[in-house]
Amino acid sequence: MTLEPQQWTFTAGPDESLFQAARRAGIRLPSICRNGTCRTCYSRMESGSVRYLVEWPGLSAREKEEGFILPCVAVATAPIVMVNPHAEKTEGASG
Ligand code: FES
Repeated sequence: MTLEPQQWTFTAGPDESLFQAARRAGIRLPSICRNGTCRTCYSRMESGSVRYLVEWPGLSAREKEEGFILPCVAVATAPIVMVNPHAEKTEGASG
């Protein structure tokens, strides 16, 4: 998984959300609810594909078509390039 524009790369497991994977790598993405409703973590996916851990992530069909994802409930199903300029490095990798 690659995060732009920072160009940070990290791995995301088959059962962990992109948010959790980022956190494990010491990267904090904006989030509030972490259950796919508040849209604080809203990010654009440049390439790759995801599936969702919840049935109704808070995205319209059109947003999904345009590549927007909610990383707190999205799991990678292919290598992903995601854009979120608000991501920050945390001090410890365990976060
Ligand atoms: S943190 Fe609320 S939708 Fe992702």
